Amino acid sequence: MATITVTSNNNTIKDPKEVQEFLKKHGIEYRHWTTTPDVENLLSKQSLNDEEKEELLKGIDNRFQELKSEYGYQTRDLIVLHPDVPGLPDMLAKFDKMHYHTDDEVRYIVDGTGIFGFSINGENFTVQVERNDFISVPKNTHHWFKLDEKMRIKAVRYFIDMSGWTPHYV
Ligand SMILES: [Fe+2]
Repeated sequence: MATITVTSNNNTIKDPKEVQEFLKKHGIEYRHWTTTPDVENLLSKQSLNDEEKEELLKGIDNRFQELKSEYGYQTRDLIVLHPDVPGLPDMLAKFDKMHYHTDDEVRYIVDGTGIFGFSINGENFTVQVERNDFISVPKNTHHWFKLDEKMRIKAVRYFIDMSGWTPHYV
């Protein structure tokens, strides 16, 4: 489950319903899902080759079908990050500064953890996401993203149009 930390008073929100309500109030969609068990062997691996990535994606494509009919997403891919990924610090440096996109940033975390930071209507807060969390950050929302000290995440990205994925720094 995700954990929210409000920057101004350091308050944390962990209750699933409260997390969902807080994020909804700020225009962010959040769901907590369970993963189908037949991809467990792939989730536990640190790195995946292209075939394994596709196998994992196929194993959870029921989610893609749901999202496709609900929001019209056209494509999906799988990001697998771990400390041995070449150029990881440079890759992460693109997204750890406040930015926005012209399309929604839609992520289904299937393994590992990550931290989103938000600045919405003058309110700053972080959201630590973990396995089985689904988050949809609306276009033009100011945010950043970091990994925690374990530097490990597997996340499915859903897109309507990949060109909207470019970060615009603020
Ligand atoms: Fe982003």
